[in-house]
This record gives sequence, structure tokens and C-alpha cells, in this order.
Amino acid sequence: MEKIYKSDFLVIGSGIAGLSYALKVADYGHVNIVTKSNGAESNTRYAQGGIAAVWSGEDSYEKHIHDTHIAGAGLCHNDAVEVLVNEGPERIKELIGLGVEFDKLQTATGDYDLAREGGHTEKRILHVRDLTGAAVEGILLKKASEHPNIQLFEKHYAVELITEHHVLNNLQSAFNICFGAYVLNEKNEQVIPFEAKFTMLATGGASRAFLHSTNPDIATGDGIAMANRAGVRIANMEFVQFHPTSLYDPGGESFLISEALRGHGGTLINGSGSRFMHEYDERAELAPRDIVARGIDTEMKKRREECVFLDMTHFDADEIKMRFPNIYQYCLKTIDLDITKEPIPVVPAAHYICGGIMTSLSGQTSMQNLFACGEVAHTGVHGANRLASNSLLEGLVFAHRAAEKAIRKQPRPFREVSIPLWDESGVYSQYEWYLIKHNFIEIRNIMWNYVGIVRSKEQLHRASRRMTVIYEEVESYYSKSKVTKELLELRNLTAVAYMIIKSALRRNESRGLHYMIDHPKKKDQFLKDTII
Ligand code: FAD
Ligand code: SIN
Repeated sequence: MEKIYKSDFLVIGSGIAGLSYALKVADYGHVNIVTKSNGAESNTRYAQGGIAAVWSGEDSYEKHIHDTHIAGAGLCHNDAVEVLVNEGPERIKELIGLGVEFDKLQTATGDYDLAREGGHTEKRILHVRDLTGAAVEGILLKKASEHPNIQLFEKHYAVELITEHHVLNNLQSAFNICFGAYVLNEKNEQVIPFEAKFTMLATGGASRAFLHSTNPDIATGDGIAMANRAGVRIANMEFVQFHPTSLYDPGGESFLISEALRGHGGTLINGSGSRFMHEYDERAELAPRDIVARGIDTEMKKRREECVFLDMTHFDADEIKMRFPNIYQYCLKTIDLDITKEPIPVVPAAHYICGGIMTSLSGQTSMQNLFACGEVAHTGVHGANRLASNSLLEGLVFAHRAAEKAIRKQPRPFREVSIPLWDESGVYSQYEWYLIKHNFIEIRNIMWNYVGIVRSKEQLHRASRRMTVIYEEVESYYSKSKVTKELLELRNLTAVAYMIIKSALRRNESRGLHYMIDHPKKKDQFLKDTII
């Protein structure tokens, strides 16, 4: 058995939220970052469109705040939105200071090339061509690796939070306290306690719960599931954002076709080559995502077509190759399609979880010494539907605030506790990988078919019945099996899928991303968060 790792700060996850926080607290104590894949693997790395912030003279904080509220369909918390928007530009200046080179206009002024996306009334998206996430992740990771107080543990999977229920000396406490996390080292298959004064959950989203998703494999909702098991408050899990345009490539991997293409003037057309979004919303292709995704879904169902098309052929080919090199190359290589000559086949796919672990405006969760930040968190900024490119911004802004809080705070309790080692006595089997795989596929199909873009009570109940069986099966296997990454991911994804269904069943209205055919209108009595 390996030793216990101790640090002032434990960070779980190495995307924009975890790394930004780590870099800020590292001057005040030792930081251990655990991350379940390699350091760069994260949703952050795949972000294309960019980061929203008020930057130009024509824009204003009021406009960005207003756009965020409109997209959020009445559920955004105004204090959180104000923090996000007002503090955004300062955090972006810091990123630029670290070395992120956002694209500039080819003019003498050298101003940033601000893009527009759905739901934004102004151009305000800073980007690095269509590879913004990779540029940001690369710089943050480099800075973290250079910091003497930061130690990065790759292929280390956080299994459970260590809470007062685990500590040996039966600490009497009125509080729910976090002391770190049990972490599986994938190389030697040992689970090691990582003890820390403060723990930051920055584990990202859970959109892999759906058959079609823009997210990489890591997005299995681990942080939300761990927090839920530890009794931490979670909110608004019913609001799953489906991105309107992921590449339609049956059998292939999901790949995002950025909203920035529509922001650039790309048009959506159906199989007959006709534009259709005007029939669904006057803002057409630039309506907020929930509306565009539902418009596409309705159009596909109405016309019995498997996809719609995003047309960029009316632009100069060199301009498109220069502005969207990643998307251009990917389509050419994987489906042999030149996007400057032919429209791109697209379908909606699960993209972002608006709900998550409830936090204060400083990232504090309902558990002492435990912070959460980034996609895993519910700060209140996104309401019932996130405004495009507000997510990277949320990671930056609230990581900064959480760091400020953690630096100033004294952890509870004020005395040493004794952390027990991971106890594997009593486990006797290994959950077969093919069973895990089957369960994964089953969950992702259930969620796609019954808990997708358009929902109904009947379908949600059907999903709930099926998920109950899987939930019980997985928990039973977990209790008798040696833990593996695959089993842990299945367990967490099961829990998150269950939370999404249960939350959806509690909201008998349609609002933002949650659309119920049997309750097609907004209702004032549901103008509140769904809290688990
Ligand atoms: P992530 O970047 O997902 O990082 C999570 C980290 O936690 C990873 O390192 C992961 O390995 C680790 N982890 C997870 N579970 C565990 C565990 N149990 N133990 C240890 N480590 C764990 N947003 C925008 O604002 N603008 C965009 O242009 C944009 N484009 C996008 C394009 C794509 C294809 C996708 C998928 C998302 C996009 N988003 C965009 C959303 C945005 O990228 C994410 O919401 C944001 O990057 C989340 O950052 P994060 O740090 O919270 O999580
Ligand atoms: C995109 O580039 O379309 C993704 C932007 C986002 O998710 O905010």
C-alpha cells in the first residue's frame, strides 16, 4: 500500500477550472492535482468557438447580462450573472498575460477578432481560430507543470470524497466535512487517500450519458455523483444542453461543428436545400441553442430526414480554411467532405450539463472545505440554458473567486484527524468488462431515446423504470468488486443519469432546455431550481 498524500489544496480535474484554480492557490501552499486521463484530456481541450466577454466599445456589461438571462429562460441567478460578466474581461486579460494569443483582426488597429454566436446580440467571442480550448489548456498545463508547488498525478481517478464518516476517531461534528479524496492509481491499481485542507472538484460534465455527445470519454459526471453520495447539494440536472450542430457521421466519433460557423453567417438547410430556422424563431440560426436544437429536431422528424445541413459554401474558400482550419481538416479527412464546396451534414448532440453541484459565488459547496468549479458546478449563471461561450468564462471567473476564498479561509476542523486507508476486504469479484460495456450502451440509449431534446412524462417514467434496474445492479456489483476505472465510470454515469431523470420528472413545464410535450408552456410555480 502506498502512503497517504497530504497537501494544502487537492484539485480533482485538469481542465480550465481545475488548472486556473491550482495556479492561483499554488503561491499559498502545496497543490496536488489528480486527473483521470492524461493532463490535457478534458472538455476544455475540445472547445472550439471561444470565450465570451465584453470587449468592444459597442458592447456593454448590461447587454451581455441581458443575453445571458434571455438564453437562461428566467432561471439564471442575477448575482452570479453579474459576477460572470463584470469580472470576465479581467480574467481574460490574465489568460492573455499567461500567453494565450487570441486571434486579431488583420487591420492596423490590431483589435481582437471578436466573433458572434447564438443568443449574443453583439460580437464578443475571443477565439484562437476554431481551436480555442486546445490553446488555453496547453498554456495552463504548461504553467502548472512549471510551478514548484504543483504536483500533477495523471491516470489517477478520484473514487470518493473523504468525509467525516470515514475518519477513524469518530469526530463529533455538526458539519459535513471534506478531508480529501480516495484516488485510484491506474498503474498499480491501488486506492490511495489524498488528504487536503481544501478539496476542489473540477471534474467537468456528464454528457457521455447520452448516445450522441460532443464530449470526450472523460465526461462521465464523476464529481456530481461523488458529491451526491457524500450528501452535497446538487441542482437543475434536468437542463442538459444539446448542441444543435455536431457532425452527422453514423458509426464515427462525435465531432462538434462550432456555433461560430453560424455566427460567421452559415445557414441551416434541410434535405431540399431550403432554410428553415425562420419558421421556428425570428433570430433564425442565431437563436439560443435550445431553440435551434429543437428546430432541427422538429425539421428532421417532420421530413423524416436523418440530418440537416450547415451551409458555408457561399464564403470565400481561403477565408473558411483560415478561420476554421480544424473543422475544415476534420471533415476532409474523416468524411471526405470539403466544407467550402458542400454543405455539412449535422445533427444535435448532448453537449453540456447546466446543473451540477450547488455553490456560492465563491465556489463553496454545501460541504465544509469542499469547493466546486467549472462545468461540474451550479453557480446559477446558466439557468435553464447556457449562453454560448459562457462556460470557459465561468470556469475562469469562479476558479479565481474560489481561490481567493480558499487562500483566506481556515479549514475545519482545526485539529488533525486520522484518515483510514481504503478497505477492500470483502470484495471478491471483478465486474466483467463486457457487462460494463453493455450497461454503458444501455444507459446511453435510454437517455437519448427517452430523456432527449423533446420529453414526455410517459417516456421519463419508462427511462426511470429501466434506470432503477441498472442502478440496483451496478450498486450490487460495486459492493463486491475490486474497483476499476471502467466500473467507477459506469457507477457515476448511472447515478447522474438517474439524477437527470428524477429532476426532469419534477419539472412539469417547458423551460429552456427542458421541453415536455405534455406541459408545453412555462409555469410561474416552476420559476425555481430543482434541488437534490
Ligand atoms: P473539463 O475541461 O471537462 O475538465 C475536467 C477534468 O476532470 C478533466 O481533466 C478530467 O479528466 C478530470 N476528471 C473527471 N473525473 C475525474 C475523476 N473521477 N478523477 C480525476 N479526474 C477526473 N465552452 C465555451 O465556453 N466555449 C466553447 O467554445 C466551447 N466549445 C466546446 C466544444 C466541445 C467539443 C465541448 C465538448 C465543449 C465545449 N464547451 C465550450 C464547453 C466547455 O469546453 C466546458 O464546459 C469546459 O471546458 C469545462 O471545463 P472544466 O474545467 O469544468 O471541465
Ligand atoms: C461551439 O463552438 O459551438 C461551442 C461553444 C460553446 O459550447 O459554448
